[in-house]
Amino acid sequence: MVADDPKVFIFDLDGVITDTSEFHYLAWKKLASEIGIQIDRNFNEQLKGIGRIESLNRILELDQTNKQRTADELEALATRKNMHYQELINSLGSANILPGIETLLKEIRANNIKIALGSSSRNAKAVLEQLGLIQYFDYLVDAAKVTKGKPNPETFTTAADYFNIPYDQCVGIEDAASGVEALNQAAMFSVGVGDVAYLGEADYVVRDTSQLNFSEIIRKYQQWMAV
Ligand code: BG6
Ligand code: MG
Repeated sequence: MVADDPKVFIFDLDGVITDTSEFHYLAWKKLASEIGIQIDRNFNEQLKGIGRIESLNRILELDQTNKQRTADELEALATRKNMHYQELINSLGSANILPGIETLLKEIRANNIKIALGSSSRNAKAVLEQLGLIQYFDYLVDAAKVTKGKPNPETFTTAADYFNIPYDQCVGIEDAASGVEALNQAAMFSVGVGDVAYLGEADYVVRDTSQLNFSEIIRKYQQWMAV
């Protein structure tokens, strides 16, 4: 690690480390259709990175019948979605790690840079354990304790504050527009993984995780710091 290297890498989970964002989508789609609402992948882009109840509220806004629901009913629907999701991630294993991720994690560690997880998912720890990646992480942000979810920066600043590292010495990796916005609001270096049409606000965008190269990220980070 050299002086102007970043000190912490903060990873999003769903859609960055593993393709569970697809399972979140399928679980929401199933729940939505059970209550007569149809959603598609395009709509799903705005659910990425967003917490469970907030996602449910966005889906219910599509409900033509305008049915009013009590807090208990909302909780029951969110729980039902989570049951659909947990069924889908039941058989998750190391084969579900996205390309290039484990190599990147190893390289970050080899350079003595801290690694944190900044996910909105309350299932995050279990998912990391199932993937066999938990040992790479120095700190996991607990989504249940975050009071303001993405796009608010709290998820990411919680990780930086844990290490007591200035925000501009943090690199965040995200697949969601809400997550990129959160990183940018925290004034961290934002790496977007996916379609530039959704992630254009990121400081650096790669098409997919196989394009995440440690040296290249450091180079882009240093250019960003120099501006
Ligand atoms: C985010 C996902 O990581 O976590 C969202 O991008 C998901 O799709 C959110 O809704 C909350 O996840 P969970 O597992 O707590 O319902
Ligand atoms: Mg994500």
